[in-house]
Amino acid sequence: MKGIILAGGKGTRLYPMTQVISKQLLPLYDKPMIYYPLSVLMLAGIKDILVISTPSDLGHYRKLLGDGSRLGLAISYAEQAEPKGLAEAFIIGEEFIGNDDVCLILGDNVFYGQDLTAKLREAMALIKNDSDVNAVIFGYPVKNPQEFGVVEFDSEKNVVSLEEKPTDPKSNYVVPGLYFYSNSVVNVSKTLTPSKRGELEITAVNNVYLQEGSLKVKLFGRGFAWLDTGTPHGMLKAAEFIETVQSRQGFYVSCPEEIAWRRGFITKEQMLALGEELKMTDYGQYLLSLGE
Ligand code: DAU
Repeated sequence: MKGIILAGGKGTRLYPMTQVISKQLLPLYDKPMIYYPLSVLMLAGIKDILVISTPSDLGHYRKLLGDGSRLGLAISYAEQAEPKGLAEAFIIGEEFIGNDDVCLILGDNVFYGQDLTAKLREAMALIKNDSDVNAVIFGYPVKNPQEFGVVEFDSEKNVVSLEEKPTDPKSNYVVPGLYFYSNSVVNVSKTLTPSKRGELEITAVNNVYLQEGSLKVKLFGRGFAWLDTGTPHGMLKAAEFIETVQSRQGFYVSCPEEIAWRRGFITKEQMLALGEELKMTDYGQYLLSLGE
């Protein structure tokens, strides 16, 4: 399975912070925001990754992540000229996806919790092994569902509807920015027409699969954190959460170098060399301490 991180957009809700720099490069506590979704793909075992961003920001991502080989990954890059919607990622990424299945994650989404890896594996296995399943998305309860894609269930927990930012949400379960699809998503995305806000909506993609009966929604429970980074307040709260977990446990949240080593993408020596380069920081010292 291939992975796409969508890290474009104008970030207007975070102006002036994002007037000259991409939102997903801003720090969340001690690391660039994109490290968090990158870590999710790595935890899923996905090594072939496409980063999509704006023409003016793409160079910064290249500088930060390179070709990915330092983390045992293969990272490539593509431009999205204008933010024409999340589903455009599959059209831009058509060649990269080739004949594979694909996972899309939004560059500003932070996931953290005990069952994350198991959930990711479950979603990937469904796409890979069950020919009746073409899409696996997630549901997460929030207090402000009208700001997201909302999923409605019947009494047996079957999905009844999916709506993008409804004024009158039918449930408080929303769809986080993490989506698993079979290869068919490329063709499905090409059939879409822009929504009222001028975007190729990911909710429209999911509705095609819902109608077809090939969409599964897995739930993240109350013990799980999907954090909002959409506003300065959300970013601060997310940073505080990460700092709290890290300083309490001593384990870092979403540290790609650590995951690369633990997943066997790189050797311990390679991970320690990355730590050595950053040894003037707590981050680097953390990597070095993993070697002990
Ligand atoms: O975060 C989850 C939500 O993401 C879902 O619940 C919604 O169903 C989905 O539509 C989306 O919500 P928004 O429309 O509010 O997302 P936003 O426009 O904020 O874009 C999400 C991220 O993707 C953001 O960091 C910018 C980036 N982006 C967005 C668009 C529209 C792109 O890189 N390119 C784009 O064309």
